[in-house]
Amino acid sequence: MSPIPINSRESGSGTVLANSHVQTDTYIEVNKLDVIVDLQYGDSGKGKIAHFLCKTKKYTHVLRYNGGSNAGHTIFHNGKKFVTHQVPVGVFYGIKSIIGSGCVVDPEALMAEIQTLKAAGIKTKGLVWVARNAQVVTAAHKKEDSGDRKIGTTKRGIGPAYRDKYARTGVRAEKIRSLRPYLIDTYKEFHGARNNLAVLAEGAQGFGLDIDWGDYPFVTSSHCTVAGALLNGFTPREVRNVWGVAKAYETYVGKKKFEPSDAIFKKIREVGEEYGSTTGRPRQCNWMDIDILERAVKMNGVTHLVFSKIDVLNSVGVWKVRVDKKVRAFKNQNEMKKFVTKHFSPLGIASKNIYFSERKDRI
Ligand code: IMP
Ligand code: MG
Repeated sequence: MSPIPINSRESGSGTVLANSHVQTDTYIEVNKLDVIVDLQYGDSGKGKIAHFLCKTKKYTHVLRYNGGSNAGHTIFHNGKKFVTHQVPVGVFYGIKSIIGSGCVVDPEALMAEIQTLKAAGIKTKGLVWVARNAQVVTAAHKKEDSGDRKIGTTKRGIGPAYRDKYARTGVRAEKIRSLRPYLIDTYKEFHGARNNLAVLAEGAQGFGLDIDWGDYPFVTSSHCTVAGALLNGFTPREVRNVWGVAKAYETYVGKKKFEPSDAIFKKIREVGEEYGSTTGRPRQCNWMDIDILERAVKMNGVTHLVFSKIDVLNSVGVWKVRVDKKVRAFKNQNEMKKFVTKHFSPLGIASKNIYFSERKDRI
């Protein structure tokens, strides 16, 4: 990317605005930030997309921007299955991987995760970092959350930890002795000496679980949007691509009634192995809701759209979506893909940037 001349839009090249103290011949470079956002209720395959992008694009950093060990990202690396909860996917490719300030960190669970990765031969030394100002999940938070009967949380202490953060009674990562070797100042890292970095911001949970835009109170306690990624110390001008990830059908884990009574969804659950990667709970299933998805695409400024698990619909031999509050059926996967592409390309996503994934290990 070529450098952006300051004031180029306001003043045109060569002229200086009357009130501006910045010369037009001053160039600044900005970091390139690609963001991965789940457009549904989590579990849409963000881990796989992050892993794939790390393999194909040249990132200097990968950063998790929200949530904590409630997340479960399933990754196939060199043919082996991994489930990560807090550590960003960058470690699989030797990329600096940061747990950002928008996250809540469970130190014990993090150490255990690092040990598991090490034991499987994944290098973590000098690669796993925690923002000094990330918040900590304590034993008390987990104990409190274990009593949840209302919304069906993952019981990882997420709600109580974020509550204490905003009540200003929480603990920052920089106060925890065991985290000391991992601490990083993300201001210095991203806006210090170098500012031409390429960062992949990896989200957790999804738009339908977002604290502001999800179906409250059946939500998580963090910001799952592109805006949530920016809260980790980035600026809007740094955003390059926004990868919106959705499943070809919807799934949700939690207390609200989500799955319609139709045996087809049990079949989808079995074929799609729809059981929580963190808690093992069965995920409720439904057809993909195009209208809800459209809202998520618009509100996150999606530039690249990935639909995963179309192979599951192919296996059960049924292709349906919800649109305008009605269920619409298609004869085959191509008809469904055509309909979906036609619906989303007018929203500013080139049809070449709309992908339908049929495999566990790639887009
Ligand atoms: P919490 O984030 O553990 O507080 O859970 C709040 C809601 O979000 C519950 O319905 C959880 O099942 C759901 N949830 C949290 N994390 C994930 C995730 O990574 N995938 C899917 N659902 C999640
Ligand atoms: Mg998951």
